[in-house]
Amino acid sequence: MSTLDTPALDPRKLARRLSNKHLIDGSFVAPQGGKTFDVIHPATLEVVAQAAAGEAADVDAAVAAAKRAQASWRALPARERGKLVAECGRRLEGHKEELAQLVALETGKALRTESRVEANVVADAFIFYGGLASELKGEHVPFHPDMLTVTIREPIGVVGAIIPWNVPMMLMAFKIAPALVAGNTVVVKSAEEAPLAVLRVCEIMNEVLPPGVFNILSGFGPECGGPLVAHPDVGKITFTGSVETGKIISRAAAEKLIPVTLELGGKSPMIVMDDADLERAVEGAVTGVRFTRQGQSCTAASRIYVHESLHDRFVEALKARVDGMVMGDPLDEATDIGTIVSEQQYEKVLGYITQGQADGGTALEASRLPEDSRLSKGYFVRPVIFTDLPETSRCIQEEIFGPVTAVQRISSLDEAIEKANDSVYGLAATIWTSNLKTAMEGVRRLEAGFVQVNQNLVVQPNLSYGGIKQSGLGKEASLEAMLEHFTVKKTAIINMT
Ligand code: NAI
Ligand code: MG
Repeated sequence: MSTLDTPALDPRKLARRLSNKHLIDGSFVAPQGGKTFDVIHPATLEVVAQAAAGEAADVDAAVAAAKRAQASWRALPARERGKLVAECGRRLEGHKEELAQLVALETGKALRTESRVEANVVADAFIFYGGLASELKGEHVPFHPDMLTVTIREPIGVVGAIIPWNVPMMLMAFKIAPALVAGNTVVVKSAEEAPLAVLRVCEIMNEVLPPGVFNILSGFGPECGGPLVAHPDVGKITFTGSVETGKIISRAAAEKLIPVTLELGGKSPMIVMDDADLERAVEGAVTGVRFTRQGQSCTAASRIYVHESLHDRFVEALKARVDGMVMGDPLDEATDIGTIVSEQQYEKVLGYITQGQADGGTALEASRLPEDSRLSKGYFVRPVIFTDLPETSRCIQEEIFGPVTAVQRISSLDEAIEKANDSVYGLAATIWTSNLKTAMEGVRRLEAGFVQVNQNLVVQPNLSYGGIKQSGLGKEASLEAMLEHFTVKKTAIINMT
């Protein structure tokens, strides 16, 4: 039975309760300007909540709260901070199903295949970083025998975090958990498409953390994100989203000379050599393209270079596999594939599909649109596997962020790598081969921050993750992200004579 009929936890009720609120200084508050915007369920287009539309005055209040909370938060022993952040993770574990349903409601991501997976990672990220608190170590420098010389890692201060809608809870967790453990206080600006689940995460964190240590605002980019980046008391910006917005933020941060971490898009290649295990590679493409998330992933395998000896069989097997996937009500257990997040993204994706056909590509459509009439207006797109696209097509060069991939013929490793690297992006790549030498050559020559051989794991809390070229600046996840991106190093010399 569809959950349109019988919602188990009633995420709609929860969504209504979370309406019209920021979380500032430990309390839910309405936006000062009194403005709100609709949050819609992209499968039915029903309005499920009214989110607070934050503006400069709300940013001022949130940053002031974060600044006030800074002194006592950074003065806590690191392990005490870690324990509190880990406790947030444990509480979040107890709310996983509710969070999964809420994120499925606002983003249209299928509950079973996507939203629950995200809710799991969120709790884990808080627990992982909570345990790393005592790793905030400095160094001893052998400068002079009479002078004790050390480096100390200190928090930056108030961190502004701007997040997108595709995996909003997870991306928020990877920013705020390390920032908080390192002794910073935080102001988050959520994405306008997905303000609810992240607000609920913060409400749960609020049971544990002191007021003002973290604050969350909803609102639009220029009106709410802009003032946050520009605020004189914000000492660091961490952002995930588009290249275009990343550049705007980077310019604004340059005016204040503050550090930024940017996690931008990708056009991640997958290379399948003639000695690859075909079945495994096809499964890898199914997860790699993130068909279950309608391809809305920054690491989506959106270009697949397959050796000519396997190409046709690969295309046929991939299409058959995606044909077997069920598209439908995101909250229904039977659903494999949910919706695109918004009308804007829906139109953008359809535009790319039309463009690819105009460029001479053959578009193989897979799976089926849902038949339930209540879903007839939803932003469902049938997955598209392109073949025979020219490498110059915008579908090969630009990030589509939809359920669209291109399977391109290659005849050698050199050709595959040359084409894979011919991109402004450099986020992730995979190579599929049974030859260790080929694998190592791929790892060495592919221009990407994250390369995998014969597998396609998603982001892990303990592995550094981040792109090169226009895919971004800096790393997220792992101890490295906390040390390099949320602390500053101070050098101290103590003259002992
Ligand atoms: P976006 O980059 O415009 O939005 C991401 C976040 O930045 C949102 O919270 C938004 O409100 C905020 N923002 C927008 N303009 C801002 C500004 N001037 N100052 C401060 N904050 C601002 O991305 P959008 O419009 O949601 O999606 C467009 C494309 O971006 C997608 O089609 C996809 O290609 C890419 N994208 C990549 C993501 C990734 O994971 N790397 C995530 C989301 C989008
Ligand atoms: Mg935008």
